[in-house]
Amino acid sequence: MRAEYDRLLELRQMIEEANEHYYVLNNPKLTDSEFDSLVRELLEIERKHPEWITPDSPSQRVGGTVAKEFPKVQHAEQLLSLDNAFNAGDLRDFDRRVRSIAPEAEYIVEYKIDGLTVALTYEDGILVRGATRGDGEYGEEITANVKTISAVPLRLKEKTPRLDVRGEGYMPKGSFAKLNEEREEEGLSTFANPRNAAAGSLRQLDSKVTASRKLGYFAYQMLTPEAHGVNTQFEVLEYLKSQGFVVNPEYRLFKTIDELITFCEEKAEERHNLPYETDGLVIKVNDLAQQRELGFTAKSPRWAIAYKFPAEQVETVVEDIIVRVGRTGVLTPTAVVRPVTVAGSTVSRATLHNLDNIRQKDIRIGDYVLLHKAGDVIPEIIQALTEKRTGDERLFQMPDLCPECQGLVVREEGEAAHRCTSITCPAQQREAVIHFVSRDAMNIEGLGPAVVQQLLESGLIKDAADLYYLEFDKLVQLERMGKKSAENLLNAIQQSKERGLAPLIFALGIRHVGEKAGKILAQAFGTMDRLQETTEEQLTGIPDIGPAMAKSLVKFFSQESTRHFIEKLRDARVKMIAQTSTRPPIFAGKSIVVTGALQKWERSEIENLIEEYGGKAASSVSKKTAFVVAGEKAGSKLAKARELGVPVLTEEEFSQLLD
Ligand code: IVH
Repeated sequence: MRAEYDRLLELRQMIEEANEHYYVLNNPKLTDSEFDSLVRELLEIERKHPEWITPDSPSQRVGGTVAKEFPKVQHAEQLLSLDNAFNAGDLRDFDRRVRSIAPEAEYIVEYKIDGLTVALTYEDGILVRGATRGDGEYGEEITANVKTISAVPLRLKEKTPRLDVRGEGYMPKGSFAKLNEEREEEGLSTFANPRNAAAGSLRQLDSKVTASRKLGYFAYQMLTPEAHGVNTQFEVLEYLKSQGFVVNPEYRLFKTIDELITFCEEKAEERHNLPYETDGLVIKVNDLAQQRELGFTAKSPRWAIAYKFPAEQVETVVEDIIVRVGRTGVLTPTAVVRPVTVAGSTVSRATLHNLDNIRQKDIRIGDYVLLHKAGDVIPEIIQALTEKRTGDERLFQMPDLCPECQGLVVREEGEAAHRCTSITCPAQQREAVIHFVSRDAMNIEGLGPAVVQQLLESGLIKDAADLYYLEFDKLVQLERMGKKSAENLLNAIQQSKERGLAPLIFALGIRHVGEKAGKILAQAFGTMDRLQETTEEQLTGIPDIGPAMAKSLVKFFSQESTRHFIEKLRDARVKMIAQTSTRPPIFAGKSIVVTGALQKWERSEIENLIEEYGGKAASSVSKKTAFVVAGEKAGSKLAKARELGVPVLTEEEFSQLLD
């Protein structure tokens, strides 16, 4: 019991450190699977001993609390908004107003992150409350959801009696693009921008959904700074960092408005390279005493202003509307536009989402249109410039037959999407293979869309399972496929057999079954066999598996083609058991190299064992290698280990480490 409790404390510390390295220091120390195995072990102990769960345990980040509604909470101090400046003139006016009261003022400039304000309250160093802005005075309490944001510390470095922090919750551009893509595939409505997506994610009644959205948080303000010995905004940011918050790193101090204006203009260009969306900069008087002197108007502080970047909208022409067929057969209309530069890159295609969107915006082929990048990433048409019409514009019609296979296209009731219903649709097959090999699925490197297309066209594969039967001699005959790349590809395919059940389930591309569901199902069923035989009732009995997913799974596994596909994978020895092990993660954070000929295990067996016990089976020896397991006739890796002073174990010694 004592040992278990000690282990719990140790796990919490290891997880927190890993989190900090990842989110605050930007220097990951563990791989995802190492990290996951620590969290799993912690969850297991806490499941056995719920009395040990504390509000600051990292287990609280995985979500799971389901709220009926969000209680209203009153903010300790009202949240105000900012006045806007749109050009250099507005900034000079602001400077003049400030200097009339605080002639010596210095400014600090920060990015204005385009997310939503989240107010945090810490008591005795523990996060006790997270709330939305609401109307500024009352917000909604979303503590369970806020806890799923890894960049929000659950416990501060110091045990200060009370700290109120404000900052911006946001969705990174990459997550936004991915989420929308998934939603489009599912025939669901997409989010207009990362801010809406972040707000929607934080206002989920089920915090597991929030957890899956991978939000970020930048802290930028604290209440009662003097109580913490802080006298300038610069020190506020430094203090917040010292307590474990993530602060946007791009802040700068300025003495004069001229330098500041030049900086603002430069930043307007650079923002497109950032992984999150910003809509401007916030300029604040640095000195907090001066801030107090300046005070507030009814709505906003006199000591700060938001410099808004010019909205990037450009005019172009819709030359054509084409239809793309996705993995699940969804037909996405895409505008082919006259190439234009917007938000830092040239755009020649823009998504039109679905037919309703086209009709609603009344976009026609030949129209002049306004275009922008939603969330600074996804090219999208805002509106048609109808006043420029000549009468030659053409209405777009969704095809009745799939443009790739002539299969029947239908629109299911209640769905915005049109789908191709043919199961032999080559576009769907191609997209299915591309999905199967993608990073979060089977992670087969060197197998991009072009090679997939080549493999299908040449007839070397008909589906993803055929990848495991590729032969070198045939592969090298493909155009532009050298010996080395063929070899690498076969190796990568070979390695992917060990990915385990969770990524495999995701790789199958079952409707409604995402990466997260793959993990949940793998954990619940343990093997593909058991999953294949499950029923809707069993499935809906699992937390987080809804009726739509359950239906879709049962339907998928009842198909003869699915059974055939899985048999092909099985015959190729693709691993179909869950990676989730009941083994203690004694090798967590450790990189271990196996070399030479072993007696007791196959190479893949010992490597699996290493991973089951939380370690990473690496292929080359470095200073970071925890130890090397050497069999007979070990060569250069053994020599390298000796040279670097890395410990070397025999098979026997290794097996004694295991229980
Ligand atoms: S300071 C008194 N700093 O912009 C208001 N706000 O209208 C102090 N925002 O929704 C706000 N990044 O959530 C400040 N670095 C930053 C910010 C920031 C984004 C948001 C804020 C609010 C709006 C201000």
